Amino acid sequence: MKFFIDTAKIEEIREAKMMGLVDGVTTNPSLVSQTGRTFEEVVRDIVAEVDGPISLEAVSTQAEEIIAEGRKLATYGKNVVIKCPLTVDGLKACRALTSEGIGVNVTLCFSPSQALLAAKANATYISPFIGRLDDISHHGMELVRQILTIYRNYQFKTQVLVASIRHPLHVVEAALLGADVATIPFAVIKRLVNHPLTDVGIERFLKDWQKVPG
Ligand code: E4P
Repeated sequence: MKFFIDTAKIEEIREAKMMGLVDGVTTNPSLVSQTGRTFEEVVRDIVAEVDGPISLEAVSTQAEEIIAEGRKLATYGKNVVIKCPLTVDGLKACRALTSEGIGVNVTLCFSPSQALLAAKANATYISPFIGRLDDISHHGMELVRQILTIYRNYQFKTQVLVASIRHPLHVVEAALLGADVATIPFAVIKRLVNHPLTDVGIERFLKDWQKVPG
């Protein structure tokens, strides 16, 4: 499973990269707004740092406008992927952009039928938002399982990118199901590392090391 980092903060990307955990990056308007920087500054820094796919979200809502915005965003780098919303216009834009060789991440997916349409529109990635489904008492990971089954039934090439991840178990479950990608907030990446027995073990080894005659 590929690890994308779900952030627009360059310092988080750099630190996760040092741990070998940045196969790609996903951003969205909310994440960019949290940086307090201009979109241009944010994107230029990320493109200079990351070789893997970088998802940048189109904020237009009409197909022709999404297509024009996507073409413009794609000029930032060959590895830029355009996030199109899972709407009629977003699907039209997805089909048009992918036919031009521009990668598309169809975002805000909340049902298997939506995911099926994204695959038919040649999406590079489909992003089921599992945390937001859990928030309203739906089983987000069940959606991932259904999408994977449908895509495998028909050998769709669209990659399943598990998004809206809130905690380590989401990552583990995505991996158990065989999702192609998980996009993970930096805070969750750090929580994936931690285990209390690791901390206790280090403390005990360091204490015992002091007793070794030297
Ligand atoms: C990623 O592509 C999504 O924009 C992101 O995972 C959404 O996460 P959230 O539901 O925590 O905002």
